[in-house]
Amino acid sequence: MFEVHTFPVPEDAKERALVTKDQYQEWYKKSVEDPEGFWAEQGKRLDWIKPYSKIKNVNFMVPDVSIKWFEDGTLNASVNCIDRHLAKRGDQVAIIWEGDEPTDDAKITYNELADHVGRLSNVMKAQGVKKGDRVCIYMPMIPEAAYAMLACARIGAVHSIVFGGFSPDSLANRIQDSECKMVITADEGVRGGRKIPLKVNTDKALETCPSVTSVVVVKRTGGDIEWVDGRDIWYEEATEAASPDCPPEEMNAEDPLFILYTSGSTGQPKGVLHTTGGYMVYASMTHQYVFDYHDGDIYWCTADVGWVTGHSYIVYGPLANGATTLMFEGVPNYPDSSRFWQVCDKHQVNTFYTAPTAIRALMREGNGPVTSTSRKSLRLLGSVGEPINPEAWMWYHEVVGDKRCPIVDTWWQTETGGILITPLPGATDLKPGSAALPFFGVQPQIVDNEGEPLEGATEGNLCITESWPGQMRTVYGDHERFMQTYFSTYKGKYFTGDGCRRDEDGYYWITGRVDDVINVSGHRMGTAEVESALVAHDKVAEAAVVGAPHDIKGQGIYAYVTLNAGVEPTDELKKELVQWVRKEIGPIASPDWLQWSPGLPKTRSGKIMRRILRKIAEDEFGNLGDTSTLADPGVVDDLIDNRQNRT
Ligand code: WTA
Repeated sequence: MFEVHTFPVPEDAKERALVTKDQYQEWYKKSVEDPEGFWAEQGKRLDWIKPYSKIKNVNFMVPDVSIKWFEDGTLNASVNCIDRHLAKRGDQVAIIWEGDEPTDDAKITYNELADHVGRLSNVMKAQGVKKGDRVCIYMPMIPEAAYAMLACARIGAVHSIVFGGFSPDSLANRIQDSECKMVITADEGVRGGRKIPLKVNTDKALETCPSVTSVVVVKRTGGDIEWVDGRDIWYEEATEAASPDCPPEEMNAEDPLFILYTSGSTGQPKGVLHTTGGYMVYASMTHQYVFDYHDGDIYWCTADVGWVTGHSYIVYGPLANGATTLMFEGVPNYPDSSRFWQVCDKHQVNTFYTAPTAIRALMREGNGPVTSTSRKSLRLLGSVGEPINPEAWMWYHEVVGDKRCPIVDTWWQTETGGILITPLPGATDLKPGSAALPFFGVQPQIVDNEGEPLEGATEGNLCITESWPGQMRTVYGDHERFMQTYFSTYKGKYFTGDGCRRDEDGYYWITGRVDDVINVSGHRMGTAEVESALVAHDKVAEAAVVGAPHDIKGQGIYAYVTLNAGVEPTDELKKELVQWVRKEIGPIASPDWLQWSPGLPKTRSGKIMRRILRKIAEDEFGNLGDTSTLADPGVVDDLIDNRQNRT
């Protein structure tokens, strides 16, 4: 077993810290003993139009699950991210934009941000978008993506961002599910020197989305696109003609702020719904304390706004705190593998927050691309999205951070709105690979498969027993599914879907998903989604998909495919199926390994035994457990003999 070293809090991190070790303990205690008092105080970090008098109103019991925070208060999220900063920091940079090409960058001050957001808000209103309407954002990583989010928030529209790497079909499904009225997109995106046909994809998606009446298009590349008169509007023309003044809509704390689709254990992604007050309190508070954010810090989170990390820690959290947040359009290895560190030097980045998959990919390129840069400005490093293996943690610490910078390994989910388990840089001794301790107000519990709480050093399923303000409120349009997914497995508790170990110091070690969700390069993917894409191909009879260890991606996608009778299993067909899945869902869903399987291991009642498929994919077939309940135990031998080489 990997020997666990503990890294004590460095002296300078301690001195600077907003929260020290003693304070962490004291505040944590207060936050769980008197949540109402604790959060009543924290709620004040926002500007409210009408102050709240009620703090928390939560029921975790099916069939009455209901979560409300600050429910009689009113506010506007864009005012909290923009207007309230203008008097003091109108000329401060709000967003540093770094384009795909190193020569392409921009700085947007808070005054400029106010102007852009006001204009776009008016354009949206003129198109008939009203409070409560849903707006889909399908954008590259350009400042207009942040303007679009904030403009929605300003007029009370609910944004639903779809990651720019998703296919027309995936985009269409998400637009249909929440019946969006408008799509905001760009002609094309640019990443790593390659163009992404966003408008073409949008046009294709909208063939099946009658709810959409207007499409706002940002001109990013000037590439050739089709135009639908009466529906499509150029962003630049429309915003130039619009007034920059748009009064904010007064929103109840529990009015929806956004929907974000995420993968679950069924084929259909869930529309995770977050509301305004609690989410904003939690995003802003976690951003401040987890990243020990001080005025003047330059903060960079490398996520895409298509994922929740981009929502909470590129846009809402940092801007609510009046921070300078860096938005990067490109990829870590373009033009070369030094890019991240060159950007850190160029913009004097102090806090850098990325995903383990990026760290592992860069680690493979050796130390040269890192050590050729200065990185002196860096003070704090962060990790998110999947478990970080101790080897990658050590490299991040020693090579990237020159052994100076603490690493915050932050565990959370789309559903949680913000970080739940994490070290605090000035308060927590670090153990490589552990997300450490719960944030204020968060009460983790590890339970066995029957839901019995396990005490002390132990391992099991991770639940959270009490609500926190940033928690999702429902699955859009399907409260039943919300209750079933999160509150019915273990009665009265929020079940995360993650497995977890707790050590003798009370540190949490996330071991990965225990459901049919896999984590590929830090992106969540439902195995059922990939399966339904595969079986949609006319040569495929049946498919089963599992996750298997992958050196760079953490987990890769391993697909077992049964072809229709008479279809020849060829290498060309394999390639065709991988392409097919890319086209159906998007490149992030491409199977890494595909194995022809004449049959799948099933119980006599016809249920696929995924446990066995997982073990074979992991090369752990010496230890398959009981296979006697299989309808045809013979299929297992065939699968073992023909397993794919993963190295
Ligand atoms: C995993 C991303 C270990 C976990 C913010 C979770 C992590 C899923 C960590 C959520 C971490 C996220 N250590 N595992 N620090 N952070 N995960 O919704 O399995 O895209 O359930 O949210 O990622 O992924 P999501």
